Amino acid sequence: MKVELGTGKYATTKAAALVVFAGESWKRDLADLDRHVGGALGRTLARERFKGKPGDVSVFQTHGRIAAGLIVVAGNSEDPFLLRRSAYLAFRRSRDAGAPTLAIAAAGASVERISLLAEMAELAAYSFDRYRQTDERNRLVRAVVLVERRSAEREEAVRVGSLFARAACYARDLVNEPAGTMTPRFLANRAIEIGRMSPAIRCEVRGPRWIRAQGMGGLMGVARGSREEPRFIVLRYRGRKPTKRIALVGKGITFDSGGLSLKTADQMVTMKCDMSGAAAVLGVFTALSELKPRIEVIGVVAATENMPGGAAYKPGDILRIMNGKTVEVLNTDAEGRLILADALVYAEKQKPDWIIDLATLTGACVVALGDNCTGIMGTDASLKKALLAAAEASGERAWELPLLEEYRDTIKSDVADIKNANYGRDGGAIKAGLFLKEFVASTPWVHMDIAGPAFMEKEIGFYTKGATGHGVGTLLRLFSAPTK
Ligand code: BES
Ligand code: ZN
Ligand code: ZN
Repeated sequence: MKVELGTGKYATTKAAALVVFAGESWKRDLADLDRHVGGALGRTLARERFKGKPGDVSVFQTHGRIAAGLIVVAGNSEDPFLLRRSAYLAFRRSRDAGAPTLAIAAAGASVERISLLAEMAELAAYSFDRYRQTDERNRLVRAVVLVERRSAEREEAVRVGSLFARAACYARDLVNEPAGTMTPRFLANRAIEIGRMSPAIRCEVRGPRWIRAQGMGGLMGVARGSREEPRFIVLRYRGRKPTKRIALVGKGITFDSGGLSLKTADQMVTMKCDMSGAAAVLGVFTALSELKPRIEVIGVVAATENMPGGAAYKPGDILRIMNGKTVEVLNTDAEGRLILADALVYAEKQKPDWIIDLATLTGACVVALGDNCTGIMGTDASLKKALLAAAEASGERAWELPLLEEYRDTIKSDVADIKNANYGRDGGAIKAGLFLKEFVASTPWVHMDIAGPAFMEKEIGFYTKGATGHGVGTLLRLFSAPTK
């Protein structure tokens, strides 16, 4: 898919589909275009009782009366959340109608709107079809965002919008890849590739010997049940004269069977998604060298399978995390917090100004916020605020959950410093957050529980079924905002 800025009249621009936006006063909005097709567009929309509400889409055959084969009319909105959805739906409908090229009407649009349209066009083009012999699906190959005049800001808006979306699609591809292929080693090889793509990025990958020598007992413990070796992945990006150093930590469980505390068949089906945090970290890195923010980013990924093999860690085992704290394992399915504990300790040793972790950590977070919302928890009010604002600007839903001190007692253990589960049923996302907090000493830290929005069972918002790349947009926006 190629998304570009273009100029030209709507009626004379060649494309398979011309996508236009129209609100309640669609008759007025579309009058000029309607004249070119002899009033047939207005008659069709009236017959269909088109309202111009966000989410409304109508597909009109032009029969050669203008240069585009189809006019796709989408309900307009000034609210970016609604506009995102409306634009995405219109682009998908164009694609479903077999239109490979789009002209997107954007005369008079703000740079924010131009960027949003470019981003949605790129997302609408996404599909995961590496494993299909015959692919009957239609493709989008090119989209031109039509403005009245070219300018550097508008070019940049299109470039950044499509860059953000491509980074999210990169993460989607990693998550959609079946766990049979997406092993810790495979994931690490993708990180090495990213490191080779740009001189501004370096990548180090470590295996079991190094991991054990570091004292990462959480990661080693979880990895014991698997035939696949764990990997510890570190990516480093350094912009020009960096003003801040940020550590991004990702949960990289390439398959979560639950271990000996085995999941049910139903719970296990989507568990290739358990490396979505890691995928988001890698996705962000694919964009950094083009975005060139003036910061330093250290990506830290702990990657392993969670399997119930003969050597697997067992309920009752006690693991020692890299900072010396011991954890009693009461449920081997609460594995994410164990590997993240080591990754957070490693991250803080890099002396960052901020630590942000992303993890498909708890089913409880999905119970609390539903499946399209990230749970944000953390120790620093200004970092939380910046992250929530970036989420808002990216159209990714996020909401804060409180790390209540009075729940701290529930993670106490009789035999070790803390325990990894059996905290009781309530507030599971928060208690997992409190567990992670034990492994960050003093650095401002935010935890993003993406268990809900990382992977969709049905289409929602601008997400297709399957992996969403959720988190990538939020982080890239956070990084492109001026950092204080
Ligand atoms: N990977 C799961 C969490 C998850 C659930 C992600 C649903 C995506 C969708 C995690 O490792 C897990 O199994 N958590 C347990 C923790 C419990 C045993 C304390 C959970 O949430 O049930
Ligand atoms: Zn689990
Ligand atoms: Zn998990």
